Amino acid sequence: MFSRTKSCILRSLFKEFSRNNLNHKQNYCTLPCSPDPVSYTQRTTTCGSLRRADIGKIVRLCGWLQYQRQEKFLVLRDWHGLTQMIVPTDKIDIIQLLKTLSYESVLQVEGRVIPRPEGQSNPNMPTGEIEIEVKDLRVLNMAADNLPMIIRDSVTVTEQVRLENRYLDLRRHQMQQIFRLRSKMIMKMREFLANKHEFVDIETPTLFRRTPGGAKEFVVPSQYKGRFYSLPQSPQQFKQLLMVGGFDRYFQVARCYRDEGTKPDRQPEFTQLDIEMSFVDEAGIQRLIEDLLVHSWPQGLVPPRPPFPRLTYDQAMRLYGSDKPDTRFDMKISDVTNMFRHSSTEIISERLKTTDSHAAFIRFPYKDISKSAFSKMKKQAAEILSDTSTLVLYVKGDNQSDSSLSTDLYLSPDEVGVLAVGHNLAPFTVLGKLRLLIADHLASLGIEVRKKDAFNFLWVVDFPLFLPKDDGSAGLESAHHPFTDAKPEHRHLLYTNPEQVYGQHYDLVLNGSEVGGGSIRIHNAEVQRYVLENILKEDCNELEHLLTALGTGCPPHGGIALGLDRLFSIICGTPSIRDVIAFPKSSDGKDLMCHAPTPVSKDQLHQYHIQVTPDHS
Ligand code: AMO
Repeated sequence: MFSRTKSCILRSLFKEFSRNNLNHKQNYCTLPCSPDPVSYTQRTTTCGSLRRADIGKIVRLCGWLQYQRQEKFLVLRDWHGLTQMIVPTDKIDIIQLLKTLSYESVLQVEGRVIPRPEGQSNPNMPTGEIEIEVKDLRVLNMAADNLPMIIRDSVTVTEQVRLENRYLDLRRHQMQQIFRLRSKMIMKMREFLANKHEFVDIETPTLFRRTPGGAKEFVVPSQYKGRFYSLPQSPQQFKQLLMVGGFDRYFQVARCYRDEGTKPDRQPEFTQLDIEMSFVDEAGIQRLIEDLLVHSWPQGLVPPRPPFPRLTYDQAMRLYGSDKPDTRFDMKISDVTNMFRHSSTEIISERLKTTDSHAAFIRFPYKDISKSAFSKMKKQAAEILSDTSTLVLYVKGDNQSDSSLSTDLYLSPDEVGVLAVGHNLAPFTVLGKLRLLIADHLASLGIEVRKKDAFNFLWVVDFPLFLPKDDGSAGLESAHHPFTDAKPEHRHLLYTNPEQVYGQHYDLVLNGSEVGGGSIRIHNAEVQRYVLENILKEDCNELEHLLTALGTGCPPHGGIALGLDRLFSIICGTPSIRDVIAFPKSSDGKDLMCHAPTPVSKDQLHQYHIQVTPDHS
């Protein structure tokens, strides 16, 4: 059925895309039509615009054959809508032609707008009061029979089929909405930055060189034996060099490449809105981003309201067990270490003997949960937490055997508590993961704890500048990247206790997802060299160009990058960022449509001095 809601695009989008399922009921809606969608083309009108007032006009429409019946009626589709055509009985040639047409063929139809006969109007279709009496029909391109998917919004094929035939998937109205919305929002962002605030849009290279630290990079062979370009993880160094070059306000809608696993919110190739400014502090960047989001926010959605709340990294980790907390629901974590340090429950007090151990706790409503649903959730939790040595105890408020614990924890009979005991931040991060799992479980049982349709932005600030290496090896790595400056009051600690230094680094979080990250940078060459060489143990030769540039009169500067795919995915409520990228990679990093990555010829390998080792498996 075809219903249109002009005033409120995105509310309809939200109805259309449930979080976990794009295969929703067909519910057409649209962005407001551009004022003139047919100029410069051979069309006089779109398939969505004719109304009763147009009766009598001679029109020419082009579009895809959506449907035909009785060798007499056909329905033509374009992004703007559907229009029904009727072929008069004396048009024998056209009637013969109709018999040969496959769905999705591209047609051009000329005819007269006529009223539909009495009682045959379709109130669910904006063009439902009229039809076109066909005078001429041209087949612009015949589609193959039996296409791998039909173009309806209720998807009946797997994501694999959608990705293999992305050009067909993109014809679906939902996909059209997403990319038209994305285009409009990016346009608004450009308008805000370039037109209102004099930022300069500058492109930077994608054939770059290896950068120390950070994500794994893709390498590109060159004609020089044994020498490779690297694809940039982000334009980080270039935007800093642009500050050195005197462009005090830069932005770019930038392609970034990271050879890391693909997850629903991660792609090897993704897009950032990349920004850098000279003579700015943390608060300045944050205000800029808040205003940018308000300016570019889609009509029909409640715009974000600055200033966004701020949590320090420490608060986020202790209250939510995550540096990207989902604040759409409460279920905060409590630190109950002191309460249990001398607990009579030995299994707990034993583990709390060392000063770096902690006990953390969350509670959740247990009322309408069956025993089997609860066991299923515990089983899933055990899988997620299989690699942690943290003790996890579930305490039911109504369970007599746990009565002392449930009393200590002030649990009511219709609550369950989860107690985690372990070292450092581990009990908090364990409960952070459980908190999300429990919220998902409760939602699947119809108990929605997350605030509906909310966009909870917040800034996470005051990160440590360095963290212990993620892979467990000795030494420190940057919490953000090696170019981030210390808090001014901590700079002296760089030389004595770097692990105690906090950085001028901020992350923008939306509904539990990191949608942006940035920092104030080190602009002093000697400090930068010290951090790279002495703290991060990196080879400075790889960054000599940047170090030299910093020494030529580099202004103090800072910036941020918004992950546009993540941002749009959350706004559109899609289950994965793949749904907001026109040609994404599959979950294992392949392009299922054109089969990249592909082998190359022996000649090409030879030209690049590359040998592929034979596969012995
Ligand atoms: P960072 O690495 O935090 O910062 O990246 C910024 C934002 O980019 C998004 N993002 C991704 N989106 C999809 N797929 C990925 N693989 C992926 N990786 C990151 C996230 C993230 O918040 N140069 C710095 C920014 C700066 O300091 O100005 C940078 O790239 O939403």
